[in-house]
Amino acid sequence: MKNTKLLIAGVFLTVALPFGALLLSSQAQLGSLGRAPAEEGGPLFPPRTPGLAVQGRAVYVSLGCVSCHTQQVRPAGQGSDIARGYGERPSVARDYVLQPDVLLGDRRIGPDLANYGVRAKSIADVHVAIHHGKAFAFLYESGAKGEIPSERAASLAAYLQSLRQDYSSPEAKLKQ
Ligand code: HEC
Repeated sequence: MKNTKLLIAGVFLTVALPFGALLLSSQAQLGSLGRAPAEEGGPLFPPRTPGLAVQGRAVYVSLGCVSCHTQQVRPAGQGSDIARGYGERPSVARDYVLQPDVLLGDRRIGPDLANYGVRAKSIADVHVAIHHGKAFAFLYESGAKGEIPSERAASLAAYLQSLRQDYSSPEAKLKQ
């Protein structure tokens, strides 16, 4: 064929141009997004995740919690998340800027956990929730005084307690 090179270049550009445009437009919109203060001169949000919770995040990933739980609160017009008490304001991209991989999830078999740390009243409640009836009881050992959390359970509980989107963001203010 005479125009093989031209054909290959055409096929390449047909794939590369839309792909590049997708990447570059997302990069232009969100690439420079960083932390922001909730009020002038205040601390920056989202807050950094404490060390134990960072370990717990890895446990959350390894046990597949993300297959049943989302971590994103939809705006009032797009679902009943706020009415259900999943959050006080919708989640925005800035909430996730410190996360190495974002655990938004795509199936909601269980409740959304974006704000679970705000709902959980005590660490004991968190451990009850982690049990899931008996599904994750293997993370605990029976002791004389009841169930003793393993290292994995303790870090997972710290992670769940750290999940909070209870600060104002420039894109989504909390109602006063
Ligand atoms: C097979 C689906 C499934 C998986 C996997 C799963 N969950 Fe759940 N989860 C649920 C359902 C359904 C509920 C609500 C009913 C209940 O409380 O048992 C729930 C409830 C919860 C709650 C209480 C939420 C609230 O608002 O009170 C927490 C916390 C939780 N799960 C954490 C986890 C963690 C951590 C993991 C991984 C170790 C996990 N889940 C894995 C389905 C799942």
